[in-house]
Amino acid sequence: MTGLQTSGNPHIGNIFGVILPTISYIKKYKKDLFFILIADLHSITNYKNYIILKNNIYKNAATWLSLNLNIKKNIYFYRQSDIKEINELFWYLNCFFPFNRLKLSHVIKNYKNKKKNYNTGIINYPILMASDILLYDIDKVIIGKDQIQHIEITRKIAQTFNKKVNKKVLNIPKYKIKYNYIIPGIDGEKMSKSKKNIIDIFEDKNILEKQIMNIKTTNKSIYSITYKKIKKTTLFKIYKIISKKEDYIYIKEKIKNNKIGFYTIKKMLYKNILYYYSKQRKIFFYLLNNKKIIKNILYEGYKKSQKIAKKKILFIKECLGLKI
Ligand code: TRP
Repeated sequence: MTGLQTSGNPHIGNIFGVILPTISYIKKYKKDLFFILIADLHSITNYKNYIILKNNIYKNAATWLSLNLNIKKNIYFYRQSDIKEINELFWYLNCFFPFNRLKLSHVIKNYKNKKKNYNTGIINYPILMASDILLYDIDKVIIGKDQIQHIEITRKIAQTFNKKVNKKVLNIPKYKIKYNYIIPGIDGEKMSKSKKNIIDIFEDKNILEKQIMNIKTTNKSIYSITYKKIKKTTLFKIYKIISKKEDYIYIKEKIKNNKIGFYTIKKMLYKNILYYYSKQRKIFFYLLNNKKIIKNILYEGYKKSQKIAKKKILFIKECLGLKI
C-alpha cells in the first residue's frame, strides 16, 4: 500500500519518493496486490475550501494515471473518503492507543515548538493512517522517510488491539523506503507543500520555470567554488534526482571545465523536465479536462476495495463483541 494526501499536485518529492518506486514495484511483483490510496480525508486536517479540495483529488489521481499506473486486476486505486469502513475502524483504533503517546509524535512536537494551534484531526492523523493500512491486512507500506513514525504507531496499535481481543485480527505491517534521503525543496529544506518550496512537474510552464529559477545555489559564483561544494548545492541535488544519467554526466564535465553557470543549469533542468515529461503532462492535462474518466476509474476502485473492507470490518466487529 501507499498513499498521498490530496493537498495539491504531488510534487517531485512525492513522485520520486513514492509514485515512481511504487509503479516499478507493480511491474516487478506482478502477483502481489497493490493498494493505492488517495488520502482525501487526511487533507481536511488543513482545509482550505471545497473547490481546492475537489481539484486536488482530481490532480492526485491524474498524477498517478499519467505516470503510468495501469489499473489491472491486482491494483486497488481508490479514494479514502469512499470507504466508510476506514472511518469506522478509525474509531475502534482510537480506543486502543494512549493519547499521551500520540502527543509525542514529531508532527505534534513541531506544532508545539512553533506554538502553532492545531486541530484534533492533526493529533489523530496517525490513527486514520493506521486505519487505512490495517483495514486491508497490508504487509508492506511504501513511504517517504517522514512517514516512519506513522507506521510505528500503526504497528503498535495493531499489537495492542490483537492483545486486547486475544486474537491475531490485525496484520502488523512493515515499511519500505525507496529514497533513504529526503528530497530537498527549492530552499534546501525538505520539499513540502506547506513550506511552499516545491517543484511541480505538472504545473503551468511559467510557474514551473519560476520554481526552478528559484532553486537555491550559493551566494558565490560557480567559478569560485570547488566541485565538491557545487555537488552539495540544492540545485545540483535536484538536478541529479530529476535528470537522466547522460545529462548528469554532461553537466558534471561542464562544471569541472568551468564552462557552465548556475543560471544555465537551471534553464537546462527546466527544459529537461518539459522534454522528459511532455507525454505525461499531456495525459495529465487531458485527464483534468475530462474528469469523468478519473471519476469512473475511482468508482471502479471504490467498488473493488469496499468489498474487502466490508468483510474485514465485520470480522473486527465480531472480535470486539459488537456483533450480537
Ligand atoms: N500520510 C501520507 C502522506 O503524507 C498519506 C497516507 C495516508 C498514507 N494514508 C496512508 C500513506 C496509508 C501510506 C499508507 O501523504
